[in-house]
Amino acid sequence: MILLAIETSCDETAIALVKRRRGKQLSFDVLSHKVLSQATLHAEYGGVFPTLAKREHAKALPQLIAHALEEADLLFERVQEKPIGMAKREKLTSILFREPELLRALTVLFQGIQKPTVDAIAVTVGPGLPPALYIGANVAEALSLIWDIPLYPINHMEAHIIVGLLEKDAQKSSTGYKLQEPKRPAIALLISGGHTELVRITGARSYHILGETKDDAVGEAFDKVARLFGLPYPGGPMISKLAEKARNENVIPDKVFVLPRPMLHTKDLHFSMSGLKTSVLTKVKAHEPLSEKQKEMLAFEFENAVTDVLVHKTKNALYETRAQSLIIGGGVSANKHIREALKDLALEEKCDIYLPLSNLAGDNGIMIAATGLYHIHTGVKPKRTLTVNGNWRINTA
Ligand code: KG4
Ligand code: ZN
Repeated sequence: MILLAIETSCDETAIALVKRRRGKQLSFDVLSHKVLSQATLHAEYGGVFPTLAKREHAKALPQLIAHALEEADLLFERVQEKPIGMAKREKLTSILFREPELLRALTVLFQGIQKPTVDAIAVTVGPGLPPALYIGANVAEALSLIWDIPLYPINHMEAHIIVGLLEKDAQKSSTGYKLQEPKRPAIALLISGGHTELVRITGARSYHILGETKDDAVGEAFDKVARLFGLPYPGGPMISKLAEKARNENVIPDKVFVLPRPMLHTKDLHFSMSGLKTSVLTKVKAHEPLSEKQKEMLAFEFENAVTDVLVHKTKNALYETRAQSLIIGGGVSANKHIREALKDLALEEKCDIYLPLSNLAGDNGIMIAATGLYHIHTGVKPKRTLTVNGNWRINTA
């Protein structure tokens, strides 16, 4: 079976076409994968601007899907254009009545091609920015109607967990992945631009949030600190580079740059990052303009503070739940120092650790495709219509 996955929850328009392999263990080949980042467009706003994100997703999505189908060898032009029937056209118009441009683009593109051998569609419907989510959801619903194929709504945070369980399976082809089965109970630490969550996993698709951030998400804190340093959005990777320089040079941060470890010793499993960001702001203001060395030192101390808190809370969660596996997900899981610290924790606590492959840590289409296949594999019923929920919590996924 071939599945088309669509992701538009934030500032990446991502598509994947995957083909499930036969066998008991869930495995698949990637036929095409496309990620179009809008980051440079949002840079001047210092963060993701929802209306702009929506416009760019709408502009990119139909073409991106067509390119993916072409790359997967599934796109064949019709000898004669077949107009979409009246009943379907009416439904399509009702799905896309707010998006006349998108409706036109989809109609032109897809009435001119033969129905591809795609068997299902998976799409992110939350959590995320509603205007951005609507584009992916509406296009998915429209295509499922045009092609008469089932639809699977996907929770973005569940997809960040599932992608952590993927490993390359190049035995049969270089584009193969298989899904590993973690020992349960498992804990997932999700660290992205919008979320910081500790989740307990007791069974297939059984998720329970144990702790989360009270204010800024970890990725958001990295991005805000980057902004204080005058670096463009998304600044997480650049802060991490500055920190790495200081770490490699064995720099010991000046006392004046020492930062707090928020909520380190509270008994709960919640996080708070905004105080840490405010402390960075105070230091930046007090030492303006910061030299390159001072920026490195402060980035180093910031990354260490974040890591200390993440490791400590995760350790508590492992104790509390007697978890046997630790799964890490979300864009910040690309951070080398945080990855290493969590690997050390897992070693110390004798639990298995699953980290996303480095090209799959940030938002992408393969994570949505893998989760769609996982839903099919575990017997989730498809939907006819979709409900977008910008605040969809994984508990109810
Ligand atoms: O999961 P993701 O791609 O999008 C959301 O679902 O939010 O995460 C994006 C976040 C951004 O805040 C970005 O700065 C952060 O992940 N990020 C990093 C690193 N790479 C990406 N933060 C720290 N260190 C990194 N190496
Ligand atoms: Zn994400």
